[in-house]
Amino acid sequence: MQRTLGTCYYPEHWPEEVWEDDAARMAAAGLTWVRIGEFAWGRIEPAPGDLHWDWLDRAIEVLGQAGLKVVLGTPTATPPRWVVNKHPDMLAVDAAGRPRKFGSRRHYCFSHAGYLDECRRIVTLMADRYGCNPHVAAWQTDNEYGCHDTILSYSEAARGAFRDWLAQRYQSPEALNRAWGNVFWSMDYASFDDVDLPNLTVTEPNPSHVLDFRRFSSDQVVRFNRVQVDILRARSEAPIAHNYMGRVTDFDHYAVGDDLDIASWDSYPLGFLENVVGAEDAHKRRYNRQGDPDFQAFHHDLYRAVGRGRWWVMEQQPGPVNWAPYNPAPLPGMVRLWSWEAFAHGAEAVCYFRWRQAPFAQEQMHAGLLRPDSADAPAMDEARQVAAEIAEAPQVQPRQVPVALVFDYEADWAWDVQPHGAGLSYFGLVLECYRALRRAGLSVDIVRPDPAHLAGYKAIFAPGLMILPDDLKAAFLASDAQVVLGPRAGARSRDMAIPAALPPDLPGFDLKVTRVESMRPDMPVALSGGGAVTGYLDEIEGAGDPVLETETGRPVALAFGGLTYLAGWLDRAGFDRLVAQTAARAGVATRPMPEGVRIRDTGTERFWFNYTAETVKTDAGDLPPAGVLRQPL
Ligand code: GAL
Repeated sequence: MQRTLGTCYYPEHWPEEVWEDDAARMAAAGLTWVRIGEFAWGRIEPAPGDLHWDWLDRAIEVLGQAGLKVVLGTPTATPPRWVVNKHPDMLAVDAAGRPRKFGSRRHYCFSHAGYLDECRRIVTLMADRYGCNPHVAAWQTDNEYGCHDTILSYSEAARGAFRDWLAQRYQSPEALNRAWGNVFWSMDYASFDDVDLPNLTVTEPNPSHVLDFRRFSSDQVVRFNRVQVDILRARSEAPIAHNYMGRVTDFDHYAVGDDLDIASWDSYPLGFLENVVGAEDAHKRRYNRQGDPDFQAFHHDLYRAVGRGRWWVMEQQPGPVNWAPYNPAPLPGMVRLWSWEAFAHGAEAVCYFRWRQAPFAQEQMHAGLLRPDSADAPAMDEARQVAAEIAEAPQVQPRQVPVALVFDYEADWAWDVQPHGAGLSYFGLVLECYRALRRAGLSVDIVRPDPAHLAGYKAIFAPGLMILPDDLKAAFLASDAQVVLGPRAGARSRDMAIPAALPPDLPGFDLKVTRVESMRPDMPVALSGGGAVTGYLDEIEGAGDPVLETETGRPVALAFGGLTYLAGWLDRAGFDRLVAQTAARAGVATRPMPEGVRIRDTGTERFWFNYTAETVKTDAGDLPPAGVLRQPL
């Protein structure tokens, strides 16, 4: 695989006279890819059936003639006003029952049949026109499914589609009543038409009802995307991607990814640091201009799994953005570091968002590679430097590393439906585990919760898998790897009920979770030997070897041969101990990292990244602030 760079461009934002110069400058900077079109429906079809492809024909031609490869986005994330006028009930409805209005983007409900038909129509027209265009070298479906909280919709269309989905799944209302436990509070239904969406109830709705609504909502995204993919595939041989997001888990990305050729995601390290990571203020101050040292890498590894090996960064932050609470400029060198980090994790392409900063509308405060006056912005030099460097080191050599971390979207929904304590999230738990693995100097493969993806690892961490299907359970138990499960492993059945034999219900294991408790975050329970449990603790009974216990002797991790059951949510020191002990048992060498320094191994290279603002001494030599070091392996 070749390492390449690109950018996101909006020809419709600029006078046609500048396109040629823009294209020439992109090529001269060493960029290969240019993504266009994903918000251009209004200029392609300003009124129903009034099609204006001529400008897009010329834009693609100008870019292609400059030697660039075009990623063409289907424009379905921004239906023009006339589409909404035609289908006023296509708008998604929020949990409070309010329609989400026209005037920005992503104003549609995935379940609306009329809107899906409009998408079918415009994507077909686009694919007919450009499917064989020699400059269109890849497609992107829509833009960022889930952005702005747009997966769950409580519309009429969603309600009807949910009832159909339930009827398919349960076949009879009696079966649904049994599965959900609707005898509780007299919630039985006589017909699927009686089932409503789980919003606006007096107190919390039935967790089984909510979990099914989450599954349904995810399936609607898969269906929506598949409609586009089928149209594109029938008309084009170019690979198809979607640009996923950081920290968005509202749909099963593996299921969407299975229909695509490439997974890509949009990486905004400084925006994420303030908004999403949930870290303490001191951490945010420390990494203010660099981003969290693990957050990007986590998503690189996750989307490598989603893309079955083929993945890109479709949008890379190039400077201050407009949407986080505070929007600092990156430390000099960070744009280069972020780009190299993606390549180190196996990216084929990194595309900077966006080419030129827009002087109008919502993203005026968002930097690009060019300033609004077309002069180079600071990121341009770093992009040029990366382009020159990858020309010297063009190949990606992926390889399977010894340590896997399982990520399961359904577990994330189950924790969300029933967190049991404020602030407890599956995503947070898995990220904490990932951070600990990286602090120990380990490269990590994130893998699907699927027996077919577990082979060949020496250690498999699978924290928080609340719903453990039998085949996955069997695969963990049969694995030669050191496997870490829990907390809350198998805590719920598929229907969101407590298993009759009590969790984790591992055949042949003398282990039971007899009670669970959640705790205030400021009341950690100390572990003997260092570290603590915070937030959540299973009470377990079993005959395993104690790996971690509280100062009062309550077991927190028990080992049964190759399987360790973790009963609590560990703090940083606790996770570091668990990782060190598990790695030692698995025969995997660890190398504790200096604060803010991380490594990643490919098949042929070891990369070192310094996320701090100071020079750090490492085994590989001194790393300057924002420094990247590449060693042959
Ligand atoms: C992404 C989106 C882009 C742009 C960017 C700004 O979420 O895909 O269109 O809005 O954020 O950072």
